[in-house]
Amino acid sequence: MPKIVVTGGCGFIGSNFLVRFVPKMTDSTFVNVDKLTYAGNPASVAEIANALNYEFARVDIADAEAVRALFDDVRPDWVFHFAAESHVDRSILGPREFFLSNVIGTVNLLEACRHLWKTADGHVFHHVSTDEVYGSLGAEGAFTETTPYDPSSPYSASKAASDHAVRAYHRTYGLPVVVTNCSNNYGPRQFPEKLVPLMILNALEGKPLPVYGRGANVRDWLYVEDHCDAILAAATRGAPGSTYNIGGSCELANLDVVHAICDAVAEGTGKDPAALRRLVTFVADRPGHDFRYAMDTAKIRAELGWEPRETFATGMKRTVRWYLDNPAWVDGVRTGEYRKWMETNYSGRTTR
Ligand code: NAD
Ligand code: DAU
Repeated sequence: MPKIVVTGGCGFIGSNFLVRFVPKMTDSTFVNVDKLTYAGNPASVAEIANALNYEFARVDIADAEAVRALFDDVRPDWVFHFAAESHVDRSILGPREFFLSNVIGTVNLLEACRHLWKTADGHVFHHVSTDEVYGSLGAEGAFTETTPYDPSSPYSASKAASDHAVRAYHRTYGLPVVVTNCSNNYGPRQFPEKLVPLMILNALEGKPLPVYGRGANVRDWLYVEDHCDAILAAATRGAPGSTYNIGGSCELANLDVVHAICDAVAEGTGKDPAALRRLVTFVADRPGHDFRYAMDTAKIRAELGWEPRETFATGMKRTVRWYLDNPAWVDGVRTGEYRKWMETNYSGRTTR
């Protein structure tokens, strides 16, 4: 009966991971370790909160003593490490928190595992990371697991540092780690500062849809449940010390994503799609904005047989439906802090 610590389980991907696997893996005990920052929302895990194999612990992973005490108490067999400051724009306006949570926080977890795990057998530290560590692509090519790191933002620099720390603990101490680097996720329970939920909610409310630059930057999109399945496959079947790239093989320019969201919102509500598209407003670009990300996912497909199940069309339809069906969740996250962030990030961007 493995004991599993999931850090950041009240955030977007961590909550989807728990909601997906706590009911399926009843022979495992899950402990959700989360600081509950602005991005952490207990309502995201409400449907499993009373499960017999689930517990919650409010802990800041940047607090080494608190992490050590928790791990000595729980004595986890596996760790799935999702917790991080995750929003690129916030990292540009305030980088420090990103290095505390993402770098020091990761090192504190690694240290706790190093002290607890006397052998590698039966253990895994799964580090959830991003394609942004590889930097920016031009029009051609894709990142592989051996592409050199070249991060652009304070967020991606902090994630790159944490990836290096995780691999160093494997090489130096033999800690059984697996690293996955994934492209842009979308789906239920995503905090509406990110492109997809922000555009869905603004379109529903007839508000402007702020597109950075001319909307030409390209991202690769993956439905969050497909990411969760890939993480479980890599953690349980990947070799210790290995890295896997994860992605949807679904490259889209941002403006095309926003248009697709307008169409999905129109389909879900009966609104006029052309009127929704007219809400697009081009605003000042993100400093250091990476032009394009694309993932070569041949390794995880060949070694672990993982494939995404959702297409962008089916995944977006499910995502829009979730936001329409969960107005209480939306109201709960759009607090005063959220309104302050929207004001801070968007009021300084000149409309062209
Ligand atoms: P999120 O911002 O939605 O959630 C982050 C969670 O971590 C929140 O619950 C927050 O309270 C918690 N947290 C933050 N700092 C903490 C700390 N110091 N101690 C304890 N808990 C803390 O993030 P997300 O989008 O779910 O991303 C999860 C992970 O996946 C991150 O490591 C991110 O880098 C990575 N990732 C995200 C994407 C994406 O598209 N969202 C893609 C690839 C990788
Ligand atoms: O690639 C994986 C990464 O994807 C994760 O590691 C990050 O945690 C996650 O936040 C995400 O980063 P992005 O910067 O790509 O996501 P974001 O939703 O902020 O922006 C997606 C694209 O849309 C990006 O090119 C910037 C643009 N954008 C974003 C916002 C919020 C806009 O044009 N307008 C906006 O209002």
